[in-house]
Amino acid sequence: MRSLTEKPNHSPKKIFRAQAVRQAVRETIQDADTRLTLLDIQRRLSRYCRGDRKAVRSAIKELVDQQELMYVSDFGHTFIETSIHKPIRITTTIVLKPWDCTLEQDAGDIVVSLCYGTSFGSGQHPTTRLCLKGLEYLQQNESGLWRGEKTRALDIGTGSGVLIIAALKMGITSGVGIDIDPCAISEARDNIAHNGLSERITISSEPFETVEETFTLILANLRLPTLKLFLPQMVERVTPGGKILLSGVKSEELESIVKQSYQFGLNRVWNCEERGWVAIVFQKKG
Ligand SMILES: C[S@@+](CC[C@H](N)C(=O)[O-])C[C@H]1O[C@@H](n2cnc3c(N)ncnc32)[C@H](O)[C@@H]1O
Repeated sequence: MRSLTEKPNHSPKKIFRAQAVRQAVRETIQDADTRLTLLDIQRRLSRYCRGDRKAVRSAIKELVDQQELMYVSDFGHTFIETSIHKPIRITTTIVLKPWDCTLEQDAGDIVVSLCYGTSFGSGQHPTTRLCLKGLEYLQQNESGLWRGEKTRALDIGTGSGVLIIAALKMGITSGVGIDIDPCAISEARDNIAHNGLSERITISSEPFETVEETFTLILANLRLPTLKLFLPQMVERVTPGGKILLSGVKSEELESIVKQSYQFGLNRVWNCEERGWVAIVFQKKG
């Protein structure tokens, strides 16, 4: 035990080690497909930390104290999750923020306010962030997409509505978000109202297979089998020269969807990778 007069060890090596463990904890939580308890995180990091469970525990405590992580109790278990109480800057211009949080905005920031909810699309998963990066790419490089009075976007699997809200805040005139989950439908509507876009975005439970309209931009953050199933119809539903932005694809699945896109004469104009996930933008021939 350290005596009271003994100074704590703040050696650079120890500080570097603590930072590395904190980063490993962040990444373990962000990469997980399920919610994790303290024990889960310790298990997943046991090799990395050479069994030093205490190091993982103190890293978590510090991240909770700094409000980066939070404890969530559910059905008798305590999970450790990324805090939803702080704004997240996704790109140089796009910021997601909890609805009740004040934010000092930079000029040109595109801010999406989100209510606390359970549907996918809080910005904590790489696929959401990749789609937002894809939207920023399109805004900065494909000005034609945002021009004209009637640009319209479809968001298949809208979740919290985050992508369709961002697309409209970036200049798309109007949009539709669809989802099969009633909870997502309700949360997306709340978020859209909260961002003052209820007049311009419709949220619906209509199955994609029955959508007949055409769109300037189609967004879909879904898993590969659904994307592959929907791709032929997406090509039909996007206007000539229009864009299709996809995510939910693992890095090793990229070639499979790109190969399928060739059958429809799509041109891949952008892709980006984060932690084993990719997003891709295709353009339909004009
Ligand atoms: C990965 S989340 C994406 C949420 C949000 N768009 C984002 O990028 O963060 C996928 C969403 O698609 C919905 N979904 C899954 N299959 C679907 C389908 N066949 N048609 C419409 N929505 C679907 C799920 O309910 C879920 O809300």
